[in-house]
Amino acid sequence: MTSLAVVPGSFDPVTLGHLDVVERARHIFDEVHVVVVHNPSKTAMLPVARRVELIEESLRDAGLSDRVTVTSWSVGLLVDYCREVGATALVKGIRSEVDVAYETPMAIVNRDLANVETVFLLPNPAHSHVSSSLVRQVAALGGDVSPYLPDAVTRYMKTGDFS
Ligand code: PNS
Repeated sequence: MTSLAVVPGSFDPVTLGHLDVVERARHIFDEVHVVVVHNPSKTAMLPVARRVELIEESLRDAGLSDRVTVTSWSVGLLVDYCREVGATALVKGIRSEVDVAYETPMAIVNRDLANVETVFLLPNPAHSHVSSSLVRQVAALGGDVSPYLPDAVTRYMKTGDFS
């Protein structure tokens, strides 16, 4: 049986930390779906379709696109997507105890809702301080965010056209 995991997130924008988690998920699961979820509690910088494109390009550049599908989901619960594609696990990167506290209730609810387990992966410590929200903040104030981003995203951000 093929194992399929979903790596969900806002990915606004995708960072090197996200790529690290996808790479680790590929080592464990036969197939991985990276799913861009619109999070209504966050003000988005990039449209969802652009986020999908940037993830695809970044994965291709990093040699990680094989067995990985990138898509978006805005219709309902994330576990509905998991059911639709037959995914049995969600994968989340855990940078700190703050992430554990944030992710644990969601993991339990997702298991209650649809018997989907959540696998917490520890990223490379080199990325443990990297978040999309920090990148957005530094970029908005004119700082250099290239150390935290795949080259494709850095190139895109330099255009200044966030459409
Ligand atoms: O990158 P983010 O913003 O931390 O990702 C959070 C995300 C999108 C994974 C989370 O908000 C989520 O799972 N949303 C899906 C909506 C849902 O199914 N909610 C109910 C169970 S938690």
